[in-house]
Amino acid sequence: MTGHMVAGLDGTAAIGGRVGALSTRPDQALFRAMRQIADIVLVGAETVRREGYGRVRLSEQAQAQRRRLGQPPNPPVAVISRSLELDWTASLFADAPEDAPTHVITCAAADPERLAEAERFATVVVAGDERVEPAAALRALAELGHHVVLCEGGPTWLGELVAADRLDELCLSMSPLMGGDRLPVAVTPEGAGINRFELKGIMAEDDTLFLRYEAEARGGQGDE
Ligand SMILES: NC(=O)c1ccc[n+]([C@@H]2O[C@H](COP(=O)([O-])OP(=O)(O)OC[C@H]3O[C@@H](n4cnc5c(N)ncnc54)[C@H](OP(=O)(O)O)[C@@H]3O)[C@@H](O)[C@H]2O)c1
Repeated sequence: MTGHMVAGLDGTAAIGGRVGALSTRPDQALFRAMRQIADIVLVGAETVRREGYGRVRLSEQAQAQRRRLGQPPNPPVAVISRSLELDWTASLFADAPEDAPTHVITCAAADPERLAEAERFATVVVAGDERVEPAAALRALAELGHHVVLCEGGPTWLGELVAADRLDELCLSMSPLMGGDRLPVAVTPEGAGINRFELKGIMAEDDTLFLRYEAEARGGQGDE
């Protein structure tokens, strides 16, 4: 599982509740390139609500390249939510193409009426009881044929993936600014341990720095 996030030099993940002002032109290029290779784009519900997240629409050239590889021209989006407080009339759900339907990943504790409503507008996956369990979510996506999973945040959902030891790789763009929201790029749940990463790549363009980290090898059982 790969994560792609952009941060200010102070680690901030948003400015005024949005990521737009943080992202630079080189980061946007990386954002598009990452989406091109993804089987599915995973995102937390708060990011969808705050950013008015739409479905993925790659360039014509990128779509053609994906078709040649036997992939749908655009990867679908999967939204993580327990509350299922999502706008089903939004383009993310209403305009999702048949070959890339928007997925909603939720848990068994979700409200049954909202769950039934979600099923009318999205491909619903139940992965976990009280909350979405990252390992179960990734397993379910793999069963649906989505192996290259790209997480685009937000910090809370990314923190869940980190705490569950499911973040294999992080591509972090550092933007040349400070002073955004008091929100780091990952918010791990209370009591979560420390995860370590190894630096595997560094690039720079203009004033943006790109860092590629891989999780240190895991030793425990149940690794996938
Ligand atoms: N810097 C970046 O690269 C970047 C990337 C993305 C977003 N952002 C910014 O991050 C902010 C939003 O991030 P955020 O951390 O507040 O929220 P988030 O991670 O986008 O979404 C949190 C929501 O996801 C659902 N969720 C997360 N873990 C869950 C679990 N284990 N089980 C069930 N549901 C779960 C819940 O949805 P429900 O409430 O529906 O149950 C929760 O409220 C925005 O300001 C956005 O601009 C920055």
